Amino acid sequence: MYYFSKDIPNALNRKEYYKKDYFYSMILVTGGTGLVGSHLLYFLLKGNKQVRAIHRKSSNLQAVKKIFGYYVNEVEAETLFNKIEWQEANITEIPALTDAFKGITHVYHAAAYISFDPKHYKKLKKANMEGTANVVNLCLANSVKKLCYVSSIATLGNGLNGAPITEETHWNPEEKNNVYAITKYGAEMEVWRGTQEGLDAVIFKPGVILGEGFWSSGSGVIIKTASKGIPFYTDGGMGVVDVKDVVKAMIQGMHSEEKNTSYILVSDNLKYKKLLTKIATRLNVNPPKKRAPKWVLMVFSKIDWLVSKLFGTRRKLLKATVNSLYTVSNYSSLKIERELNFTFTPISETLDRVVDCYSMES
Ligand SMILES: NC(=O)c1ccc[n+]([C@@H]2O[C@H](COP(=O)([O-])OP(=O)(O)OC[C@H]3O[C@@H](n4cnc5c(N)ncnc54)[C@H](OP(=O)(O)O)[C@@H]3O)[C@@H](O)[C@H]2O)c1
Repeated sequence: MYYFSKDIPNALNRKEYYKKDYFYSMILVTGGTGLVGSHLLYFLLKGNKQVRAIHRKSSNLQAVKKIFGYYVNEVEAETLFNKIEWQEANITEIPALTDAFKGITHVYHAAAYISFDPKHYKKLKKANMEGTANVVNLCLANSVKKLCYVSSIATLGNGLNGAPITEETHWNPEEKNNVYAITKYGAEMEVWRGTQEGLDAVIFKPGVILGEGFWSSGSGVIIKTASKGIPFYTDGGMGVVDVKDVVKAMIQGMHSEEKNTSYILVSDNLKYKKLLTKIATRLNVNPPKKRAPKWVLMVFSKIDWLVSKLFGTRRKLLKATVNSLYTVSNYSSLKIERELNFTFTPISETLDRVVDCYSMES
């Protein structure tokens, strides 16, 4: 019952590992059917951990098996999948969630609702803030030893004059924050509140997570879009990180002595032009050549808003999305590199792997 250090770069040595009581841990994972959660489940099971994962009635459990299939053959993937103790629970519904916490010693909380549409504010608040408050309260009620929570760089402020954004760049309520950021910030406040009440926690703030398996959400959409050979690019950029690095950092953070602290997870700050060109070149399609001015996208966003009001269609180009397409931020992950001796996968390696996987499946 230990992690193989080959699976987890920077893992604690075995002596230190045994010194702690992870040996006897019973882990609860929320969000196990999502991008981060499914890759996390794989590494936990590979490390022979006892894992319970919650899912909703509507969750696609087959997606988890598919993710395992990226690492091992079908038979092994099935065997690992069958080791998970699945329990139906929604983080916003206390009775089932209370049951899911029975006998739990460590919690990885990766469940969240992701949307930037202001129309979804109530739903975002419920899942992200109320759901996280429930998780924190149950951690306290069950004397859980440590909570590992996945927050986001969206909860950080802006760097002044292009200065690197660190864990100390605090959220600014005066900024035009989007609804996702507001509710992730509120969720994080619930975790910090838990630490004041005696819970040990470690918080990770990833940038945009690049990973295989979920092509219709998050970074999967970027790859899918770039694969069509779009001719335009925008001036902005984003902080990115490999899903495997996110998961490895989470496991390492859970094991480490560090507590009640947070870490940015951004391996690279990439301009969209470079990112889209890299993806297009790998997929052998035309890279973007023309710069799209912001005002054009703002006009499209307004038309999109009007169409959605008139015909009740889903918004495709939100104002928040346009703003982010023209924002350049510079996130620094020095803290995790120094404190946890963490090394990130080079982003070109990640992109090659993920884009090749997309190419094989599309
Ligand atoms: N993806 C990114 O680029 C990114 C970047 C920074 C931070 N993050 C954070 O990382 C975490 C994981 O993100 P992800 O990309 O893995 O998201 P994802 O693929 O959208 O998965 C979200 C997960 O949360 C579950 N979930 C949502 N609402 C729930 C509820 N009310 N009760 C129980 N489970 C619920 C979903 O279950 P179902 O399968 O039933 O829908 C799914 O398992 C989130 O906290 C997110 O905010 C993500």
